[in-house]
Amino acid sequence: MNTEILRVDPVSPEPAVIAKAAGLLRAGRLVAFPTETIYGLGANALNSEAVRGIFAAKGRPASNPVIVHVAEPSQISNVAADWPETARKLAERFWPGPLTIVVPKKPGVPDEVTAGGPTVAVRCPNHPVARALIAAAGVPIAAPSANRSTELSPTRAGHVLKGLAGRIEMVLDGGPCPGGLESTVVDVTGPAVRLLRRGLISVPMLEDVVGPLANREREQPETVARSPGQMAKHYSPRTPVQLTLAREDTVRAVQTALQTNLRVGVLLRNSDSVPEISVVPGYRFLDDDPNRYAAWMYQALHEFDDRHLDIVVIEMPPDTPEWAAVRDRLTRAAAGN
Ligand code: TXA
Ligand code: MG
Repeated sequence: MNTEILRVDPVSPEPAVIAKAAGLLRAGRLVAFPTETIYGLGANALNSEAVRGIFAAKGRPASNPVIVHVAEPSQISNVAADWPETARKLAERFWPGPLTIVVPKKPGVPDEVTAGGPTVAVRCPNHPVARALIAAAGVPIAAPSANRSTELSPTRAGHVLKGLAGRIEMVLDGGPCPGGLESTVVDVTGPAVRLLRRGLISVPMLEDVVGPLANREREQPETVARSPGQMAKHYSPRTPVQLTLAREDTVRAVQTALQTNLRVGVLLRNSDSVPEISVVPGYRFLDDDPNRYAAWMYQALHEFDDRHLDIVVIEMPPDTPEWAAVRDRLTRAAAGN
């Protein structure tokens, strides 16, 4: 299959481009598109065969359910059997936006979408291209991240093509995704809201709306399809990652790598002054602000991969709530080694 790449204006998407992509989705084909978080790989969520195509293209295990995207909050009644009060409050505050809400599913939602489970994850994205595309398709759109399973998430069309060229019908190239990190996933089917995946909406932001979240540590281990995005090896670059906690560790790790003639990359924050390691050609600085760091994080990891380094040393940002999602993804990136 020849994957068509169509440029689209990320602010005012051209109707003709959107119509073409929406036609493909309605015909059961796969189209990658930008959202405010990362690029998604879309298929008609109500067409089992189309959704099976997502799993085949990604090499994704059938046990990992996918998020259903809607253009308007009013469309949730097409896929959700129940919309609890907490879901209403969260959607009112954070939609359209990077929050995914797990609720009981409607019988018509294919098992492929929910991995055979009783719940469905729903999100109303806040990117003009995503919203125009879903609206034009006229159906809810199942869309996991547009990458091969366990690999790095894509924040640009080029990242999508690295993994999926020849495997999908089309990529809408709307430039870089502004958020750069996946949505937060919460489950509202229990008595307290439960965090399933950290993301751009932080825990304090959620708790501001719904009060204390359920304590994850006290939870029973899940048997099926809880949120397999929590598997340790996920969001992994090809290059081995070594995490460091303090500057001395970073310097030592870089020196050790250089002494053994390894090609090393280093990822730091702007505030970090680095005279000792500025000799390394592969260092890269990201912003001190967690949201701006997140926006560039996957791009930086993709660049390290493209340069075929032997190792990337990443100094962990601080252990504070606003850095929690970034730290989560960096930890997973290192777990893939
Ligand atoms: O920002 C995002 O969420 C992006 C964009 C494209 O919307 N999508 C994304 O999808 O990251 P994916 O498939 O890579 O991650 C979806 C996560 C996985 O951890 C999956 O296990 C979880 O959501 N999930 C999906 N449906 C679920 C369900 N019914 N119950 C629990 N977890 C679910
Ligand atoms: Mg993913």
